[in-house]
Amino acid sequence: MIADWIDIGWANEIPVRGSRTMPVEGAGEIALFRTADGQVFALANRCPHKGGPLSQGIVHGHSVTCPLHNWNIALDTGRAQGTDEGCTPTIPVRIDGGRVLLCRASTLRAAA
Ligand code: FES
Repeated sequence: MIADWIDIGWANEIPVRGSRTMPVEGAGEIALFRTADGQVFALANRCPHKGGPLSQGIVHGHSVTCPLHNWNIALDTGRAQGTDEGCTPTIPVRIDGGRVLLCRASTLRAAA
């Protein structure tokens, strides 16, 4: 049976206020973010505006600023903030014993 959660590594391997990326079965890329308060978020690595790489953006609070045109994206919902409109797929994350687990079905959907 295929597990519902994918173990993708240690939470502390993601830089604080930074990110790392993860390819998903050749279909796309997930961006993992760790915030200053230690929470981990996972989103498709593409901005809802024009697909900019969110992993290269600046993390502040629970948001990331896209490096291309400075849209702010909420890490928990994937929604563009302020007057901008759009949404990036997010993936539920669990931390278990310091390991980061991603919901398998959402990961495949987000990377498609
Ligand atoms: S592509 Fe992200 S703000 Fe334009």
